[in-house]
Formats: sequence, C-alpha cells, structure tokens
Amino acid sequence: MGKTSSNQRLPRAKGIDMAAYYTVKECESRVKRIVLPDRNRQIVEEFITILGMKERFKEHDVPIPNKIVMFGPPGTGKTLTAFYVATRLELPLLLVRLDAVIHSHLGETASNVRKIFEYAKATPCVLFLDEFDAIARTRENNDEVKEMSRVVNTLLQCLDEFEGDSIFMAATNLETELDHAIWRRFDTKMAYSLPDEKERDQYISLLIGGFGQEDHLQSIAASILQGSSYAEMEQIVLKAKRKAIIEDSLLRADHIEEAFAEYQPKR
Ligand SMILES: Nc1ncnc2c1ncn2[C@@H]1O[C@H](COP(=O)(O)OP(=O)(O)OP(=O)(O)O)[C@@H](O)[C@H]1O
Ligand SMILES: [Mg+2]
Repeated sequence: MGKTSSNQRLPRAKGIDMAAYYTVKECESRVKRIVLPDRNRQIVEEFITILGMKERFKEHDVPIPNKIVMFGPPGTGKTLTAFYVATRLELPLLLVRLDAVIHSHLGETASNVRKIFEYAKATPCVLFLDEFDAIARTRENNDEVKEMSRVVNTLLQCLDEFEGDSIFMAATNLETELDHAIWRRFDTKMAYSLPDEKERDQYISLLIGGFGQEDHLQSIAASILQGSSYAEMEQIVLKAKRKAIIEDSLLRADHIEEAFAEYQPKR
C-alpha cells in the first residue's frame, strides 16, 4: 500500500499496491483552501445534486453521471478537486497514479487496471486515476505499443462496466492526446486554467490568512503573481512569509517580489 490510512475499516485491496487511500477526514483536511472557478464549482454542485436524487433519475430512466475528467495546466487544482469531491460525497479516495501502474508492472498493466476497477466496484469510493495521459504517451518499442493498446481496451471495458456507488475521476495535462473513445466515456468534463485576477486575489487572501500584512498587500501580490499557477503562488507566499518572520515584520510587497524572483517560476 502506498499510504496507510488511519481508517482500519477500509478493506485492503490485494494486488493494487500502487494505490493510496485517504479517508474522508484526510480528504477534508486537504481542501480547506481550495479555490474552484465558478464554472467548475457549478459542475461539481450539479454532480452532487444528481447523486442525491438517484431515485428520480431512475424513474425517468436517465443514467446517473459517475465519470469525471479534469484537464489543464499543472498546479491548477485537478488533484485537489478529487479530494474535494470525495469530501463532499463523504467517500474515501483511492488515488492511483496511472504512470506508476504502467511503469512498475509492464506486461501486467491491463490486469492491474482491472483489479483497481474491481475494487472500486465492490467498495464505494472515489477512484481517482491521476496522470491519466500516461496511457497516451507515444511508445517507440513495439511490445509497448501492443501493451498500451491492451490497456486502452481494458480501460474502455472497465469504464463501460463501471457502476454502483463509486465515482471515477481522472486528471490529465494533455487532454488532446487522450484516445477519443476514452474521452467519450466521461459524462462530466472540467477544464482548469491559470487563475485570473479575482481568483489570485481570493487564493492570496486564503494563503495570507491571519498573518500581519501591510495595507493593500493582497491586490499588489495578485498583480505581482500574474501568470503563476496556484501551486506556484502557494510556494511564493510561503517563502515571503518566512522572510517576514525572520525580520519580525509585517508581510510586505517586497517580500513577495523577492520570493517571486527566488522561486524562478517556469514560464
Ligand atoms: N484551485 C486551487 N485552489 C487552492 N489551492 C490550489 C489550487 N490549485 C492548486 N493548489 C495548490 O497547489 C497544490 C498542487 O495542486 P494540484 O496537485 O491540485 O495541481 P494539479 O492541477 O493536479 O497539477 P498537476 O497537473 O501537476 O498534477 C495543491 O496541493 C494546493 O496546495
Ligand atoms: Mg495533479
């Protein structure tokens, strides 16, 4: 098991040692400072509302959505959203990095993928396959091409047969490279992008919290950090806070500027 959970009631899944388990409480503690863009918040809310109205949907013979794909640049909250959805649905999260599954048991990938899905079918959870584009990466070696096409077929089958109380989620940076047939299987799609001014402002306020700051720092920081992802902003604001603590001073714009220069975000 990649990560042992404090919740011993969760049955251990044999054969899927690349999976990490998170209890609802563990998920909850990770999403205290999530900023979900309005569009995605709306999508998540509708998804949750529908799951709470299962009977109505059955009456109308309209299937319940249960497969979400998230796509967009690094550090924008895709993985975090999986923790958020698990928290909201009060389900444990089973996190599996697909690249790890592929690389650690080449030749057994398809059967491991099947085991993971079988587990999720039997045990209500949010099954989250992170780094989902790992199946799409170009393979040079012929054996690997064959193996990957087997994995894609297995995934298609598992997605078609996915039913019960679990939810399937996947995240990728490279949505354009995903197999069309797989893409089509998702009933819910969420796009992620770098934060705009309003979102940066909101996140900076969460990051600074109760820390003493000079006047207007929040909006100044939001403009300094233009073009940064949430993950970068988090690192930079933490670095700036450290500087303020060392100096025993309020958090100032020059701390943010210096931290930004030192962090050297990749552009
Ligand atoms: N929308 C967000 N709201 C709040 N914090 C965020 C958000 N996006 C990212 N973060 C912060 O950055 C960290 C990394 O984000 P996350 O792992 O969700 O990014 P990702 O989109 O999955 O990136 P990657 O494509 O590299 O996997 C989070 O743990 C969190 O601290
Ligand atoms: Mg991620």
